[in-house]
Amino acid sequence: MQVESILEKGIKAHRSGNLEAAQDAYLAILKDNPKDPDGLHFLGLLHFDAGKSENAIELIRLSLAENPDNAAAHNNLGNILKLTGDDDAALSAYLRAVELDLRHEEAWKNINVLLQGTADNDQLLPILEEIIRVDPENASAWHNYALSLLMQKRKDDAADALEKCLSFGVGVYSDPVWHARILCALGRRERAIVHLERIAAALPDNETAHYQLAAVRGDDVKHAPETYVKAHFDKFSDSFDEVLQRLGYRAPELVAAQVERQAAERGQGFEDTVDLGCGTGLCGPLIRMHCGKLTGIDLSQGMLRKAAALKVYDFLVEGELVSFLNADLPTQFDLAVCVDTLCYIGDLQPFMTALQTALKPGGLLIASVEHLQGASDLDYKVDSSGRYAHTPAYLRRCSENAGLVYIKEDQEVLRHELGAEVRGLVFTVRKPIAKFS
Ligand SMILES: C[S@@+](CC[C@H](N)C(=O)[O-])C[C@H]1O[C@@H](n2cnc3c(N)ncnc32)[C@H](O)[C@@H]1O
Repeated sequence: MQVESILEKGIKAHRSGNLEAAQDAYLAILKDNPKDPDGLHFLGLLHFDAGKSENAIELIRLSLAENPDNAAAHNNLGNILKLTGDDDAALSAYLRAVELDLRHEEAWKNINVLLQGTADNDQLLPILEEIIRVDPENASAWHNYALSLLMQKRKDDAADALEKCLSFGVGVYSDPVWHARILCALGRRERAIVHLERIAAALPDNETAHYQLAAVRGDDVKHAPETYVKAHFDKFSDSFDEVLQRLGYRAPELVAAQVERQAAERGQGFEDTVDLGCGTGLCGPLIRMHCGKLTGIDLSQGMLRKAAALKVYDFLVEGELVSFLNADLPTQFDLAVCVDTLCYIGDLQPFMTALQTALKPGGLLIASVEHLQGASDLDYKVDSSGRYAHTPAYLRRCSENAGLVYIKEDQEVLRHELGAEVRGLVFTVRKPIAKFS
């Protein structure tokens, strides 16, 4: 049989999960020619699927030694290196992929993810400049170039590069949230509005663009639309944990530390706990040991699928958290945690009122929010990313209006974004224990 048809058979078996048949095919190719670059590349991917990353890296490197122009192999190598934590080597591999195939969108997206974290800009900028010189209409290259200039605090250059990227029109490497956000970070709010208006007009069903536009314009929106949250997090669910780790995200740890403190004070754990907006379940494993029953609720199916894979939640519910708390639940909760989720709700009064019903007397809410500072006349504010920040005074007022006791808040850094700290509050609220006369 021809090498091509053996390879095709192997890849088909590989894709359908028949790893043994795939391995037989790749080994048959390599038996004939131990240096066959495709055989080495795909055997490397197979090793990766079997959890053997080091073997995978070695095999793909051997393949690239034979065929250094294989952009897909460089991109795959980058993916594996990124997962092993070697960001610098991963970035080099992705850059090589886009140098070889200037429109390799997967590699561009991977560079974009690395750029949001710790990627080495010095290595990146000259390569991006060269790519833009050779391929001046490459929107993805302009997008990443703008981002890397921004990370270097070259704001005007970054804004110009972003304008260039946007000049290619709606739909080209189009992430309305990101572009609008970066434009706002660069002080070009009016330009962000024009950009979003164009997207909203061209894509009338794009909830993200409409919500984002309302947020940037400063319209009075009380919470993010459910369809927006679902679409955003369904899309984000696969890369959420990795991206947040790169941003130094620590809200789950901070909330879990408070849960631990409260459990120690009570001298016991919490029989019934709910994780409101549980997402991929980052908080679940950190508090599981203090919980009898642990329920997670979230709007996004994609996020819930990830949470389910952890096997730490007893129940996972797809739904909106305020409606859930207001529903006729068969139980009340001893503890509710809500990590980095109230930033999608501006007006917290309905939430606090629903919580009052859903908590047992003496039950606690431990939650994180983004901290609204320097806006003394406001209770909450939505920013250009579509996320709300709240003041501590407002958290207290909403809690007390609902008949809850506001215990305390701690000021914390929740994560880093675009090179700046995102400041937050971790706060605790208790439902009073009923007094009997
Ligand atoms: C930034 S993620 C945080 C996830 C998780 N708590 C963590 O800290 O990793 C916000 C999550 O809240 C969910 N969410 C936002 N608004 C919601 C709402 N009103 N009801 C239910 N889930 C919501 C989103 O789908 C998303 O999974």
